[in-house]
Amino acid sequence: MVIYFSGTGNSRYAAKKIASACEDTLLNLTEVFRGEARAETAGESRLVFVTPTYAWRIPKSVARWIEETPLPGGVPTWFVMTCGSEIGNADRYNRELCEKKGLRYMGTTQIVMPENYITMFKAPTQSEAMRIIERAEPFIRKAGEAIARGSAFPAKKAGLLDKAYSGVVNQVFYPLSVNDKAYFAKDSCNGCGKCAKLCPLSNIALENGKPRWLGNCTQCMACICACPREAIEYGKKTVGKRRYYLK
Ligand SMILES: Cc1cc2nc3c(=O)[nH]c(=O)nc-3n(C[C@H](O)[C@H](O)[C@H](O)COP(=O)(O)O)c2cc1C
Ligand code: SF4
Ligand code: SF4
Repeated sequence: MVIYFSGTGNSRYAAKKIASACEDTLLNLTEVFRGEARAETAGESRLVFVTPTYAWRIPKSVARWIEETPLPGGVPTWFVMTCGSEIGNADRYNRELCEKKGLRYMGTTQIVMPENYITMFKAPTQSEAMRIIERAEPFIRKAGEAIARGSAFPAKKAGLLDKAYSGVVNQVFYPLSVNDKAYFAKDSCNGCGKCAKLCPLSNIALENGKPRWLGNCTQCMACICACPREAIEYGKKTVGKRRYYLK
């Protein structure tokens, strides 16, 4: 089973291609988190997690779900992490997670896709994004083929910086940057409800036709990037910035 989490579509795109390459079923964790789908993993002969990279590791919401969910013991488990540039030493933490869960760790690979973190950086233009996705295709294909063959991903040696990014920087990043305090909807919001419907953590309530953020955000960028009217801002940080969302 290919289990994916995706805020703005990159990981969904990679997950679909991988599931098709290894003729496996797909499970969308957003639907599971929202109570719209059930994770029936009993009897699965392999697990593949496809996720974005948040602060050089898989998203904490996904790691927590893996920790708390009964999964079939001993099955080979791969991690495919889409990212804007690199995943640091995520391998170590994915390996440890598998050890804790009794899953057989088959490695982690990174797929560089368009940057979506617009509350911090800039998203690429549409043509730049298309070029980045084109460059990612052979890596997605290779990942799918390795999984279909049952081969482990080649190990990548982590340098000191990788260790710092996925270690101490990740620890500092979450309390400092992962919150919804600065989100607001402008007058151009027409109350369509798409942001509330897309939020993987059901963190947006529509009140009097306007979204209200409820304090449990994983900074996935789905609401701000998918709003059809570009009516959501994150304080002043996103004003005038391009949105990125891969359908
Ligand atoms: C909160 C947050 C943290 C991120 N941290 C990293 C990072 O550490 N390294 C990186 O290369 N990309 C990072 N990114 C970029 C995303 O991982 C990348 O754009 C990913 O492909 C988005 O996947 P999605 O479209 O499936 O949500 C970050 C994005 C967000 C929103
Ligand atoms: S998606 Fe945009 S327009 Fe629709 S309710 Fe949310 S903020 Fe308003
Ligand atoms: S509030 Fe927006 S950024 Fe936060 S988890 Fe929900 S959709 Fe993602």
